[in-house]
Amino acid sequence: MSRTLTVYFSPGGNTAKLAKAVAKVSESELFEIKPRDPYTPGDIKWTNPLARCNKEKLGKKDVPIEGTVENFGDFDTVFIGFPIWYYGAPNIISTFVKSYSWEGKKVALFATSGGSDIGRTAEKLLPCFNGNGEIKAAKVFRPSENGEAVRTWVMGIL
Ligand SMILES: Cc1cc2nc3c(=O)[nH]c(=O)nc-3n(C[C@H](O)[C@H](O)[C@H](O)COP(=O)(O)O)c2cc1C
Repeated sequence: MSRTLTVYFSPGGNTAKLAKAVAKVSESELFEIKPRDPYTPGDIKWTNPLARCNKEKLGKKDVPIEGTVENFGDFDTVFIGFPIWYYGAPNIISTFVKSYSWEGKKVALFATSGGSDIGRTAEKLLPCFNGNGEIKAAKVFRPSENGEAVRTWVMGIL
């Protein structure tokens, strides 16, 4: 039987709601990607040039993650959810992807944003998969999109 995993990063909670909907429709196990050093509201205040998020972005820094997904090798399909940061995936998502082996896995990216579309998010993240893993789809969901839109998208990937 094929097994599906949904992982997500969501310091503000928007993506968490979407991730739960994705996990429900896809009957996935759910894993929250949390930084070992949690983000405070000040850390993600991107309008402050000295905020942690800006330093991480500029320094192309890895962001150490709390815990690991057990039995990652057992999953055939992985949905990865995150907020769009600087027109792409946050650094912690690159760190997550680089930490696992993706051979033979189907991958789909989903995101929330303040208005940006998915753009080149998938293309930019691709090198972190080390030549393995196949990104089947990548989509930003608007807050106005309902459960039916999520269901249709998920079913097109499974
Ligand atoms: C550091 C940072 C960078 C962001 N960059 C963008 C961006 O480039 N484009 C955009 O539309 N929204 C951007 N946003 C807004 C978030 O994508 C949006 O608020 C998202 O829904 C937050 O998800 P969350 O509640 O799961 O954290 C950014 C937010 C932060 C904190």
